[in-house]
Amino acid sequence: MGPTDSQRTQTALPFVFKCKQGNSPWIFGIDPIMTHVVTESCIKCRYTDCVDVCPVDCFRKGPNFLVIDPDECIDCAVCIPECPVNAIYAEEDVPDDQREFIALNVELAKSWPSITRLEPHAADADDWANVKEKKHLLER
Ligand code: F3S
Repeated sequence: MGPTDSQRTQTALPFVFKCKQGNSPWIFGIDPIMTHVVTESCIKCRYTDCVDVCPVDCFRKGPNFLVIDPDECIDCAVCIPECPVNAIYAEEDVPDDQREFIALNVELAKSWPSITRLEPHAADADDWANVKEKKHLLER
């Protein structure tokens, strides 16, 4: 069972901004600036702990990797501490050697199916947790 509308609102609230321009009334909205990005560490680990906490179901599932759909992500950041291999970053914090994953998340999110619940990970996922160079193993 997914979160209720009330739970979704509570999750998003810290990221709601309000502003006042000139004599116009206060304007409320969701900060549209950035998204979050899944990076190389996820490849062949795909633990999916991140999926379970996402309030807007923005994760997309590939054969051995997940991506975040930037059109759905609300930048709530609750997924970041859930990942056992620290694969998720706010877009502005993605390390230089992982910047290509920003475009990769955008590209793959267009064709991969949604995943909304924790799933069992591969039997050898823990063997890959500390492997740094895994880009060449990404399956599409
Ligand atoms: Fe991948 Fe970490 Fe989520 S390994 S599936 S980004 S919990």
